[in-house]
Amino acid sequence: MPIKTQSLDATSQGIAAAAAILRAGGLVGFPTETVYGLGADARNDRATARIFEAKGRPHFNPLIVHVPDLAAAQTYAVFNDQALALAAAFWPGPLTLVLPLRQDAGLSPLVTAGLNTVAIRVPAHPTARALLRAFGGPLAAPSANPSGRISPTRADHVLTGLAGRIEAVVDDGPCSVGVESTIVGLDGPPRLLRPGGVPQEALEAALGAPLALGGDANKPNAPGQLASHYAPNARVRLNVTAPHTEEVWIGFGPDCPGAALTLSATGDLVEAAAALFHMLRRADDLAGQGAIAFAPIPETGLGRAINDRLRRAAAPRP
Ligand code: TXA
Ligand code: MG
Repeated sequence: MPIKTQSLDATSQGIAAAAAILRAGGLVGFPTETVYGLGADARNDRATARIFEAKGRPHFNPLIVHVPDLAAAQTYAVFNDQALALAAAFWPGPLTLVLPLRQDAGLSPLVTAGLNTVAIRVPAHPTARALLRAFGGPLAAPSANPSGRISPTRADHVLTGLAGRIEAVVDDGPCSVGVESTIVGLDGPPRLLRPGGVPQEALEAALGAPLALGGDANKPNAPGQLASHYAPNARVRLNVTAPHTEEVWIGFGPDCPGAALTLSATGDLVEAAAALFHMLRRADDLAGQGAIAFAPIPETGLGRAINDRLRRAAAPRP
């Protein structure tokens, strides 16, 4: 039976209504600075199970727990000095830390997929923070899209994918970062598990040491790391400087004459990341039976996260 999905605004009333739905075990889409999350009470087995049902996720991948601050995070995970240093430097913000789970954490085992580690982040978005305060507990939240599809950076993306499957979405406009959080594993030597909103260079500067690269595409530690992911319907080609006629060409920088769309006309990686998932959707609509071609994006800073997502969008489908 489809349920009626309410669209709530980001006023104190809308946020109070969203918090009440979460307390009752419901699912609420909400904005973060990276992408929209699909939130549920992380202590409630039934609520977290419904996340997998709503997304149509084939496996119980572990979920990120969202909390309002470091003190709340420390009630669920064990922080060593490196974890404290990264939290001090980047929270609130687009960084997720994978840390040893505390025995007394009280989280649903579905959130951690039965692992002895937990992924935690403190989002910066004011509406996410207001919702966490109003709800008063930990929110498990993957990106609010059907499994394997493009991540949502606007409330209408959430509705396109999940209307009828979730109780509500809080609409607060487009996300500013536009790619998911960077995930760093700190249950051993620091490892980059997923590139994202905090550039690798900034993390290495804060740690004072290089990060090992974690994650084998086929045996992923972070299952967002599956080779084919973020897939539009149209085929995707990368590093294209001369598109074919049937391709919708997406430019980057000033040297893409005739591009149908651009991630950033000036070549600004921050602007490009914020536009990325929205462009994939628009290009998919324009492409029909054709294909999408992306101009080259430099492999530095946020460009690494953008290229990582684009390679998955372009990967052969299973
Ligand atoms: O920006 C973001 O991180 C967004 C917003 C909503 O916060 N969330 C997000 O969640 O991207 P999701 O579920 O799409 O991706 C979470 C990733 C998955 O690849 C998952 O495998 C990994 O985090 N993860 C969660 N817990 C983990 C753990 N204990 N060990 C390793 N990876 C973990
Ligand atoms: Mg996701």
